Amino acid sequence: MALPRINPTGTAASNQLLEHYKEIKDLHLKDLFKADTDRAEKLTFEWEDFYVDFSKNRITEKTIDLLVKLADEVKLKEAIEKQFAGDILNETEGRAVLHTALRKPQGTEVLVDGENVMPGVHAVLEKMKSFSNAVINGDHLGHTGQAITDIVNIGIGGSDLGPAMVVDSLKFYKNHLHAHFVSNVDGDHYQEVVKNLNPETTLFVIVSKTFTTQETLSNANSIRAWFLKTLPSEAVSKHFVAVSTNIESVKSFGISEQNIFPMKDWVGGRFSLWSAVGLSISLALGFDHFNSLLQGAYEMDEHFRTEDFHSNIPVIAGLLTIWYNNFFEAESEAVIPYTQYLNQFATYLQQGIMESNGKSVDRSGQSIRYQTGTVIWGEPGTNSQHAFFQLIHQGTKLIPADFIGYVKPLYGNKDHHDKLMSNYFAQTEALMNGKTENEVRQEFESQNASEEDIERLTPFKVFQGNKPTTSILIDQLTPKSLGKLIALYEHRIFVQGIIWNIFSYDQFGVELGKQLAKTILSEVEQGNSGGAHDASTSALLKHFIGNS
Ligand code: F6P
Repeated sequence: MALPRINPTGTAASNQLLEHYKEIKDLHLKDLFKADTDRAEKLTFEWEDFYVDFSKNRITEKTIDLLVKLADEVKLKEAIEKQFAGDILNETEGRAVLHTALRKPQGTEVLVDGENVMPGVHAVLEKMKSFSNAVINGDHLGHTGQAITDIVNIGIGGSDLGPAMVVDSLKFYKNHLHAHFVSNVDGDHYQEVVKNLNPETTLFVIVSKTFTTQETLSNANSIRAWFLKTLPSEAVSKHFVAVSTNIESVKSFGISEQNIFPMKDWVGGRFSLWSAVGLSISLALGFDHFNSLLQGAYEMDEHFRTEDFHSNIPVIAGLLTIWYNNFFEAESEAVIPYTQYLNQFATYLQQGIMESNGKSVDRSGQSIRYQTGTVIWGEPGTNSQHAFFQLIHQGTKLIPADFIGYVKPLYGNKDHHDKLMSNYFAQTEALMNGKTENEVRQEFESQNASEEDIERLTPFKVFQGNKPTTSILIDQLTPKSLGKLIALYEHRIFVQGIIWNIFSYDQFGVELGKQLAKTILSEVEQGNSGGAHDASTSALLKHFIGNS
């Protein structure tokens, strides 16, 4: 048993936190700032190129002390050590959880079943490097002797979201290869992608840890059939490579061993972009940038592993989720990047956070009687200000939000960047301070509004404020800083899972629908609308089969 079974609600810290919550739940952030003039300084942590300000959260130093006490009582420190050491933390699947090994430097050691996995990790990185270089430099040519111009990543979930998000986020650093991503089993998705591609200059990267995933195999088969309309089967070896743990199935698909980039079962799909799953990243950005991404993640790993919990950024961030989720009963968290580049970041985090911690059975197999997993959502600012910010400002729900911003823009347009970041700062300030009735009235009076209008409209213009935010301000968006940011959220997920006493690294919840879809598919294929289903599903199937 690698991890202890400790119900967080039975700890002394949990009871103290409950008492503390009652004391501070009605305090306004404005008052907390008035009461402690050093608050901003005390609750801000500067680490490398990160400036992380937790002070606009509904906490005091005592809150952090008690949350750290909770982390100590559930043995978080020991759990972190076990994760990095390769213990079997994914107990339900009998696996270690070692995405951190993928970014460790050469010459280090991580043992799994008594074997040092690091030489294998670096051998795969070498293979990725030489293949990426060959494709980028034009040494690897297509079957008809033309250079590769386009790459298509075929995968879903962790075999798509991470590479797609990183390639899009770092497109400033891209080379000449055009990267495309096909994930959905929706046939229109792959058709839209291949319709403008030349098979003679395209490289397909099939990514599937298991190589059994319906969506990926369907897309790979259909795309290969499209490819074979133009080129002979001998051409497949120059245009199709795969990333998987399931070497035999990849070979049966027709991909030779030299074109397979292996991965290990101790890499969870949603934490796999650092492995060979990141091949599309290495191709689209070049291996050096991929390596910088790994380096950044490694630096965050070291921070997480060694920093005291009171100043440990992923630990505090994870503990704040517990504070809002389990005491304030917040149901969701927003992640708002103030850069268009991180457009896909919240979508990527949704799998990481919700597939990991959307669990209702604890590590002893008992039903949980407290809230776990938060709903994650978000869109870049300033667009999101014009979409859903109304609800965060004046709605009835408490939505803690992370604001991610950069000191320097990539193209250096100061005018735009100053506007963008002024909005970043203004929103966190507005969410915290709100606008009192008095302030609304004064504003109306300064505009010479009629008394009647003032009476009638004031209630609608009041902002309660006291909406918590965390400001993550990073020097600049680079491969390395992105690596640090992603690793921050990965470790935050880990912290939450340990405290909630759940297993974060399995995902049995996605299986049931997959099983039912198989049964329904065979009925749909046979045009059989008489299968054993509930009345609603039966009627839907009848309508679909009858009209398709
Ligand atoms: O959605 C379930 C899941 O197993 C994810 O965890 C995984 O990232 C995805 O499917 C894809 O799996 P594979 O890489 O094996 O095709």
